[in-house]
Amino acid sequence: MSKKIAVLPGDGIGPEIVAEAVKVLAYLRDEQGLDISMAEAPVGGAAIDATGVPLPDSTLQLALNADAVLLGAVGGPKWEPLPHAVRPERGLLGLRKRLDLFANLRPATVYPQLVAASPLKPELVSGIDILVVRELTGDIYFGEPRGVERLPDGSRRGYNTMVYSEAEIARIAHVAFKAARGRQKKVCSVDKANVLETTELWREVVTEIGRRDYPDVELSHMYVDNAAMQLIRWPRQFDVIVTGNIFGDILSDEASQLTGSIGMLPSASLGDKYGMYEPIHGSAPDIAGQGIANPIATILSAAMMLRYSLNEPVWAERIEAAVSRVLDQGLRTPDIYAEGTRKVGTAEMGDAILAALRQGGQG
Ligand code: NAD
Ligand code: IPM
Ligand code: MN
Repeated sequence: MSKKIAVLPGDGIGPEIVAEAVKVLAYLRDEQGLDISMAEAPVGGAAIDATGVPLPDSTLQLALNADAVLLGAVGGPKWEPLPHAVRPERGLLGLRKRLDLFANLRPATVYPQLVAASPLKPELVSGIDILVVRELTGDIYFGEPRGVERLPDGSRRGYNTMVYSEAEIARIAHVAFKAARGRQKKVCSVDKANVLETTELWREVVTEIGRRDYPDVELSHMYVDNAAMQLIRWPRQFDVIVTGNIFGDILSDEASQLTGSIGMLPSASLGDKYGMYEPIHGSAPDIAGQGIANPIATILSAAMMLRYSLNEPVWAERIEAAVSRVLDQGLRTPDIYAEGTRKVGTAEMGDAILAALRQGGQG
């Protein structure tokens, strides 16, 4: 039966990078007989402009009825003056919550061709293969109470609530341990258990589950401040990192830079029923509209979609191989440019990946 993909380009560079991933998917549909269909809908600022809200019901319904969602990015300066409850970011958070996408997989791997693009020394970054497993529907992102209030003396106070239930911690821990079994069998759980009770519970629950169900996986714990430092000092010590929503947000941006650029990192947001695929970066307002954004993170997100939601692991691998071949050819968007390579724009990079896929697909 035909698989439905909801395509949500969003804002800023979102439409530019999603267009390149759609090229690849359209090739699979039109020339390789993959039984997929795509339907587009607005989310974030684009949806606010069109309908007044960041997650229109029609967009939510499209996502709920789809087999997978491909998302670009949301947000931008234009919508920053809006109240928090109706900002573009709430559209994305609403989708994650309504689809119950509690597990965000963010693989940070270094392509050998890009070792020189990392700000770290080559001997530190070559061979990095880290999977950040970020809890995505809990934590301070969703905890109540939240808000800004006026105190009796007229000054203002802002507050958010960091909260995790045992069940929420357990389900993300299982995802991390299972992922580790297919890799180096090492999980590093990152918390701030020395200060925050919520994450003290996190550490206890992850430890219990590890002991009980995954004795074959080596479990370690690290405080988040140390983890941020260790990622730069000796990134190859990590295999799977499991952590909460806010720490995972920050550490995955940090890990992305080890690989050369945030424009390289894809992600899969998974629940028991749904899957959404998006680059880990944002709408990059500073380069939007210039045709220079790196589309690779989004194209690799489409590859993850083929693997996790569409049961097409071979096409996922072929896309990943095509990206590698284009990097071999020396093509680079400005974010990963180094001397001796050829600078290209978003569409040229997408076209080159598609051309490499065509060649690989025939072989
Ligand atoms: P950002 O990730 O958009 O940009 C950070 C820096 O990385 C910028 O210099 C940008 O040019 C660069 N960059 C990001 N993606 C790139 C790509 N594909 N190719 C080349 N360079 C790239 O983060 P920000 O500037 O903090 O946030 C901008 C907006 O995006 C905000 O509104 C924020 O809320 C939103 N945001 C959305 C998402 C998402 O939709 N998943 C993620 C992060 C930020
Ligand atoms: C991300 C983004 C989002 C997050 C924002 C835009 C809500 O930074 O996907 O990493 O914080 O989760
Ligand atoms: Mn982020």
